[in-house]
Parts: sequence; structure tokens; C-alpha cells
Amino acid sequence: MLKNRIQELQQQVTPFYAYDLNLLRQTLQSAASEAGKYNFHVHYALKANANSPILSEMKNVGFGADCVSGNEVKCAIENGFKPQDVVFAGVGKSDTEINYALDQDIFCFNCESSHELEVLNELATAKGKTARVALRINPNVNANTHKYITTGLEENKFGINAWELEGVLDLLDTLPNISLIGIHFHIGSQITDLSVFKNLCTRVNEFQEWFVARNITLEHLNVGGGLGVDYYTPDENLIPDFEAYFGLFNQFLEVRPGQQVHFELGRALVAQCGTLVSKVLYIKKGITTNFAILDAGMTELIRPALYQSYHKIENLTSDKPEVRYDVVGPICESSDCFGKAVMLPETNRGDLVAIRTAGAYGEVMASAYNLRDKAAAIYL
Ligand code: LLP
Repeated sequence: MLKNRIQELQQQVTPFYAYDLNLLRQTLQSAASEAGKYNFHVHYALKANANSPILSEMKNVGFGADCVSGNEVKCAIENGFKPQDVVFAGVGKSDTEINYALDQDIFCFNCESSHELEVLNELATAKGKTARVALRINPNVNANTHKYITTGLEENKFGINAWELEGVLDLLDTLPNISLIGIHFHIGSQITDLSVFKNLCTRVNEFQEWFVARNITLEHLNVGGGLGVDYYTPDENLIPDFEAYFGLFNQFLEVRPGQQVHFELGRALVAQCGTLVSKVLYIKKGITTNFAILDAGMTELIRPALYQSYHKIENLTSDKPEVRYDVVGPICESSDCFGKAVMLPETNRGDLVAIRTAGAYGEVMASAYNLRDKAAAIYL
């Protein structure tokens, strides 16, 4: 797609993020129609990408917002999401963040510890309000993904462990300004093995039984996000398999009459529509390889340095025979490398290079390290 627009791209100051809004719309249509089959509610996880034009597409398709900071809640509301469509998770919500969210009357706080429940109750009481809460439960389900983006194991800081729940219920009896409306789970990100979600459903069903046995009716089940995307062959799987994903939850999750089911997808909705475009500054001969040195680095896209993640790299300019390169950025860190031993058409100074599948956790994780400028975003 980008190759056809090379003339236009060459006019831009590099590096920049290019977002394909048509692909985004198709992706969102597909997710919305598959979720709609079962009346599932989707909250877009803003942390994946919080650019206004992207948020506006999410809103148009009827998704709510999943936030993990006060500023994300603010960003969602400023971009037109209704407070009653906003959920707020996170292990370390500050008083300021909680107060702001209480003032906005958001739909639900996903609470992650007893201590947080106590503080939330105190702050809500001071405002004469009642906070709607879903308990984030740590189900101890292995997500089979990178350890840095695994969140549902007991060793992780997230959520309330099963063995703490009895105590939490006792505590809730003493917290009048908290209203328990549901339970919440999020076990990790970039999950490509769908059987993981089946295991999650089994655990959610067990937890539900536990609550039902205590005469607690849960109006809401929130199963989080985590659906992965194809980083290796993006063009073959531009739109994730939402049919299989939502179908699986429909098959294995025991939903009780009147109960609403919520999802918090981030990556699967936006990853493929974004590309980091960079210019080749220099070619340098190494001992075993050549280095293609780009004007983008880990400051624009940190995923390869942080999670050793793979992003497909393409030369948009050259169609010469292939040569092997280590594709690196300009930052003073050896981890500033987008890919080792990458086969690319012979590459020269000035060529435009695309780093694919960068729409999620790309721009939002950018830093100003080395006092770098922020890369622009363009929408195609
Ligand atoms: N809900 C909660 C509570 C979360 O913590 C997350 C992501 C999501 C939903 C959305 O998950 P998704 O559908 O995007 O997998 N920076 C990492 C990913 C971190 C994900 C953090 N939590 C990366 O670049 O791979």
C-alpha cells in the first residue's frame, strides 16, 4: 500500500508514523460485527494508540474506552467518549486520578487490591458518591506470550488473587460507597494461541460459580484484551480473526441472563494500520554484516529493544537484489536495533524504509531520549 504512495511519502519529514484509516475502518467493522453477533461490548484500550483520528474511528463504531491512567480517562472524554462507556484499570491509581474519574462518573473502576478499594471508598465518600467497581481477579492463567506482557499469573503484580477474594468480600461489606458490579480479567497481550482464551473462560466460569454460591449477582463480566496480530506476514493477516476470537468466548463463557460481557482490545484493533516510515541515513560495513542506519530508532518504536519483538521491515524505494543488513537506529544504545540479518533489496542512503505493524504500542511508547524530536503522524 505504501509503495504506491512513495511520491507523497517522500515529501514528509522522516521519521513519521503513517496510519491507513481504510484498513482501520475495515478492522473495526469486522470486530464490531463479530462482537455484535453476541451482544458483546468492546472498550478500546487507549494505551495502544491514543491519537485523536484513531479514537474518533473507535467512537464511530460504538466502542467504549479502556483506560489505565487519569490522563487516558481525560483523553477519552475529551475525544467524545461518554463517561458511562469508560472503564479505568491499573494497579496504582493515584488519588488525583481517582478523584477525577469519580467527578466524571465513569462506568467502572477495575480495582486491583483491597487497599485500593479502601482508598476508593474513602474518596467516593468524601464526594458523596458511590463508585461502581469490578474486581480485577488474577486467574493464574498462562498467556503463552512474552514475560513482560504476561499479566495473569500469580507472580504478576496485577489483580486480586483467588485466595484473597473471601477477605475482599468481607471488606466490601464495610465499604458503603462501593458498588460491586462485576469481575474483570486481563491475562496478557499478543496472545496468538486461542486456547489460552478457552482456559481463561474456564477460570471465569469457576469464579462466577464462587460468587453465585455467595448470592452475589454480577451484572458485568470483563475478560480484558490480548488478542495478538501477525507481525511476521502482516499482509496475509491484516485483519485479525475476530470471528474465531469472539466465537470462542461465546462458546466457552457461561453468561447468565441479563449479564453483559465486555472486552478491552487494543493491539488487535490498531497494530496493522500503522507503519513507522524512516529514511536510511548511512550504510556501514560491519565484520559479518552491513548496517543500514535509519533516522528512526528505539525512541520512535521501542518494542524490538524492550521485548525483542519482530517487526517486518521493507525497503519502499529499492527493488534491487537482496542483501543482508542489521537495521539499526541512531540512538546511543546497542539495543537500538530493529532487526538483525534482515534481507532487504540493496539499500542506499535516502531510501524509505517501512517498519510494519507499528500502530499499537508504537507512537504511545515513544520517548525523547537523546533529546529526540517527536515523530509526526500522517493519516492515509
Ligand atoms: N486491558 C488491560 C487492563 C491491559 O493492561 C491491556 C494491555 C489491555 C486491556 C489491552 O491489551 P491488548 O488487546 O492490546 O493486548 N507494550 C506492550 C503491550 C502492553 C500491554 C499492556 N496492557 C507491547 O508493545 O507489546
